[in-house]
Amino acid sequence: MTASPRLERIVEMTASELNVRLGEALALYVTAMNYPPGTVEQRAPMWLAHMMREDWRCVVALGEQDELVGIGYGYRGAAGQWWHEQVRRGLMAVSPPAVVDDWLTDYFELTELHVLPRAQGRGLGEDLLRRLMEGVRSTRVLLSTPEGPSKAWKLYRRVGFVDVLRHYQFTGDPRPFAVLGRVLPLA
Ligand SMILES: CC(C)(COP(=O)(O)OP(=O)(O)OC[C@H]1O[C@@H](n2cnc3c(N)ncnc32)[C@H](O)[C@@H]1OP(=O)(O)O)[C@@H](O)C(=O)NCCC(=O)NCCS
Repeated sequence: MTASPRLERIVEMTASELNVRLGEALALYVTAMNYPPGTVEQRAPMWLAHMMREDWRCVVALGEQDELVGIGYGYRGAAGQWWHEQVRRGLMAVSPPAVVDDWLTDYFELTELHVLPRAQGRGLGEDLLRRLMEGVRSTRVLLSTPEGPSKAWKLYRRVGFVDVLRHYQFTGDPRPFAVLGRVLPLA
C-alpha cells in the first residue's frame, strides 16, 4: 500500500505573520483541545508574550484553502519563566541537582502542538513536530502534557520522548501532567 500524498503544506511562520492570524490559530487550539471558546481571550495575551521570547519558532500546516489546520510553536526556556520555575520546583523535589541542571540549562520548550480533529491520525502532528525541531539550537526539548493515554502521548513516545516528571500538578490546574523530554536532534 502506498501512502497518499499530504494535502497540507507545512511552513514556518514569523511572529508578525502569526499575529495577523492569531484568532484563527487560537480557534484551532481551542477546537483541538476541546476547551471552552472563552479560552481564546484568556490565551491571546499569553501567546503574544511568548512570541517575544528568545528563539521563538513556529510552524503551521495550511490546508487547500490556505486555512490553518495545524500549529506548533515554542521558544528557549529560561529562569524566571513561569513554566520553567514550575518544572524546576517539581524536579527539585524528586531529582538530584545535576539532573535538574541537565534538563533545564539549555532547552527548547515545546509550548503548543495541535492539529484540527479532521486532520488528525495521518502523521501531520509528527511532521509539524519534526519541522519545528529542525530549526532549534538548544540541546534538549521539554514539554508538558496531561497524563495519557492520548494521541499526543503516542506521538511523543514514538519520537523518543522520555519521562522527566510524572503526575505533576502545575499551580492553578487540578489535572496531573507529565513533563517529557528528549535530547536533540530528533533521529
Ligand atoms: C497530538 C496531535 C498534535 C498529534 O497529531 P496527529 O496528526 O493526530 O498525530 P500523528 O502525527 O502522531 O499521527 C497519528 C497517526 O498517523 C499515523 N501516520 C503517521 N504517518 C502517516 C502517514 N504518512 N500517512 C498516514 N498515517 C500516518 C501514525 O502511525 C499514527 O497512527 P496511530 O495514532 O494509530 O499510531 C493531535 O492529535 C492533536 O492536536 N491532539 C489534540 C491536541 C493535543 O493534545 N495537543 C498536544 C497537547 S500536549
